[in-house]
Order: sequence, then C-alpha cells, then structure tokens
Amino acid sequence: MTEFTIRPEVPGDEAAIHELVKCAFAPMPFSEGDEQDLVDALRGDGDLVHSLVAVDPAGTIIGHISFSPVTIDAQASGWFQMAPVSVSPEVQRTGIGSALIETGIARLRADGAAGVAVVGNPAYYERFGFRVFEGLAPASEHDAPYFRAMVLAGSAPRGILRYARAFG
Ligand SMILES: CC(C)(COP(=O)(O)OP(=O)(O)OC[C@H]1O[C@@H](n2cnc3c(N)ncnc32)[C@H](O)[C@@H]1OP(=O)(O)O)[C@@H](O)C(=O)NCCC(=O)NCCS
Repeated sequence: MTEFTIRPEVPGDEAAIHELVKCAFAPMPFSEGDEQDLVDALRGDGDLVHSLVAVDPAGTIIGHISFSPVTIDAQASGWFQMAPVSVSPEVQRTGIGSALIETGIARLRADGAAGVAVVGNPAYYERFGFRVFEGLAPASEHDAPYFRAMVLAGSAPRGILRYARAFG
C-alpha cells in the first residue's frame, strides 16, 4: 500500500504534473502521447476547475486528476469533464486513482456542480457510479462507446456535451 495525501495543485507543481502525466500515459496503447500538453493547455485557458495531485511522503507527485467545464447543447451546464487521470506507473493499482476520482467528485459536489462526465474504460469508471444516460452524448462519435456520466444534482440533461477548448 502506497502512502499518499491529496491536495490541490499549487504554483510550482506544473512541471512535475506534466512529467507524471507523460509517464502515466506513455505505455497506454490508446494514448496519442499528448495528454500532458492537454493539462498545460487547460491551465493556460483557465479551464482547470479542479486540479488535484496525490503526493507521497517525500513530497513527490505520484498522481493527478483534472476537471474542466463542458457545455451541453452549447449552453453552460454546470457539468464537468474528468480528464485526464494519471498515476505513476510504479504505484498504479494501489488505490491512488480511485482516491483522486472520489476526492474530485466530492469537491465538485460541494461546489454545487450538476454532473461529471468521463471518457475511458467503462469497466474502471462504472465502479464509481458513472453510467450511460440516454440522450446525453459527446460531440465526438469516436468517444461515444467510452462515454459515461454521473448526475450530481438535478435530473439528467439531454444533449450534446462538448469539452473545453483544449480538447480540440
Ligand atoms: C487508470 C489509472 C488512473 C487508475 O489508477 P490506479 O491508481 O492505478 O487505480 P486504482 O488502484 O484506484 O484502482 C485499481 C483498480 O482499477 C483497475 N484498473 C486500473 N486501471 C485500469 C484500466 N485502465 N482499465 C480497467 N481497469 C483498470 C484495476 O484492475 C484495479 O481493479 P481491482 O482492484 O478490482 O483489481 C492508472 O492506472 C493510470 O494512470 N493509467 C494510465 C493512464 C490512464 O489510462 N488513465 C486513464 C485514461 S481514461
């Protein structure tokens, strides 16, 4: 079991987060190798609503998660995209990713967010309560089979969900 704490990103964390995201995604066959640039672009655009890091007892950043705003049918929605999620390869499968996801969602809920969406392996994300909502779909058809959502407040919206600009 890896010891870690979770805290918000602070100024000075940027380079370590960039490196961590790069290392986490490098072995993944689906990766285009640019997830670390996505985090930098979200930050540059002011779209990193929550950026949380997991830190080991030595202070090294070993996990990271980002949340950014999305629109639904081109309207501000109170919904957020959870991406990317990254854990240092040496300490994957020790609960860090789950803790980042649960902490991030708790923060969004505390903010009064309406919901959160994710694109990824359904077998992993459905355990947190993400699921398919008929009528809510991502703009990218490529993402559709991997798209899952979680309602935090109110009823499930219908429409086309579009990610922040940095996602392209
Ligand atoms: C995906 C990731 C964030 C999960 O974080 P983690 O700290 O390794 O995961 P946890 O320890 O919280 O959870 C482990 C559980 O998730 C499962 N799991 C981990 N990665 C998985 C994946 N890519 N697909 C499906 N299941 C996965 C494990 O089988 C394990 O399940 P078990 O406890 O029933 O055996 C991490 O593995 C990672 O950074 N991967 C590379 C980057 C990536 O793929 N990010 C997500 C893109 S959508």
